[in-house]
Amino acid sequence: MNEITTGTHVTDAEPALACARAPVGLLAELTHRCPLQCPYCSNPLELERSNVELTTAEWQDVIRQAAALGILQIHLSGGEPTARKDLEDIVKVAAEVGLYTNLITAGVLLTKERLKGLADLGLDHVQLSIQDVDAANADRIAAYKGGAAKKHEVAGWVKELGLPLTLNAPLHRQNIDSLERIIEYAVEIGAGRLEVAHIQYYAWALKNRAALMPTREAFMKTVDIVNRAKERLKGILVIDFVVPDYYAKFPKPCMGGWGRGVMNITPSGRVLPCHAAESLPGMSFDNVRDRKLAEIWLDGDAFNKFRGTDWMKEPCKSCSRREIDFGGCRCQAFALTGDAANTDPACSLSPLHDEWAKVAGLESHETPPDFIYRRVGGAKVVEPAGE
Ligand code: SF4
Ligand code: FES
Repeated sequence: MNEITTGTHVTDAEPALACARAPVGLLAELTHRCPLQCPYCSNPLELERSNVELTTAEWQDVIRQAAALGILQIHLSGGEPTARKDLEDIVKVAAEVGLYTNLITAGVLLTKERLKGLADLGLDHVQLSIQDVDAANADRIAAYKGGAAKKHEVAGWVKELGLPLTLNAPLHRQNIDSLERIIEYAVEIGAGRLEVAHIQYYAWALKNRAALMPTREAFMKTVDIVNRAKERLKGILVIDFVVPDYYAKFPKPCMGGWGRGVMNITPSGRVLPCHAAESLPGMSFDNVRDRKLAEIWLDGDAFNKFRGTDWMKEPCKSCSRREIDFGGCRCQAFALTGDAANTDPACSLSPLHDEWAKVAGLESHETPPDFIYRRVGGAKVVEPAGE
């Protein structure tokens, strides 16, 4: 594991703590602008406008600081990162300083020439999201006509350029029956990895929970499908499967544990321990415009708030899993209990778990309401290239 100490020159401002583990990944939300309107969008309810976004030079400076801090990977995300016209300048510097660069994209704004240009500049990997393999349903979920066809084209370009491809397929009750075909599709387009993640219900997705929550029976079927596919496709396709919290016994260690391995930077430069952290009240977040990244990582109030296990209450405090799942997700704990320091109700040991889990059973058996689409009210929507 990469370690940093006060003896290592990291930035102009030396970190205050004696020793800490450096983060592995930086999630760079380059913009909140996005042409899609997915009902499970994980961006905050209040989107940041384009006029407050970090400039090209500011992102380049942050990237240099990230490399000096020991970060190994940068995930270029959004919104839709390709909505930034200066993506090339950002990728170029990330590659120059030796970061592994992953573009997380919906693909619909890309052209073949642009993708080739990014690959030539050193882009290492593409993570392409899809809504379904049924094109009409996919376009309905994203509220974007022609999106599925365009994504298929983009997947072909990624492979033609020899870039590794991960397919990302968020799963919910309105595409869950396609899972077997999604797995076949991932193999067909030459993806090396497939992420099948059941939706997490916070931020915008919480508004659409009743429209997205699968039944327990449907969920159990996905477990079986994924397990069989993993066995059958060994050496061909790696499948990462994220189960829905509502049907789990123990929660996931959200972000691998708060302030343990990942930093998230919003379009305007606010540095967060997770992408939904701004939903927590009473927190203050440093900005890369005011403080060095290393200092924020080691010493920032937000990162230290739920780092480690000292902040925990019972039952987490004395639980043998406290350093395995770190009490689950702070943002979900706050959204569902009103206190971010409570045990995530996804945990079966939480006193609120049974009551909370009942919701899934009830909602998933009712007729799904219409989607509340994620319309980008506060941010400028960019039209697809060439359309
Ligand atoms: Fe994890 Fe806390 Fe549940 Fe224990 S009580 S399993 S630490 S969430
Ligand atoms: Fe914030 Fe899980 S999304 S801790």
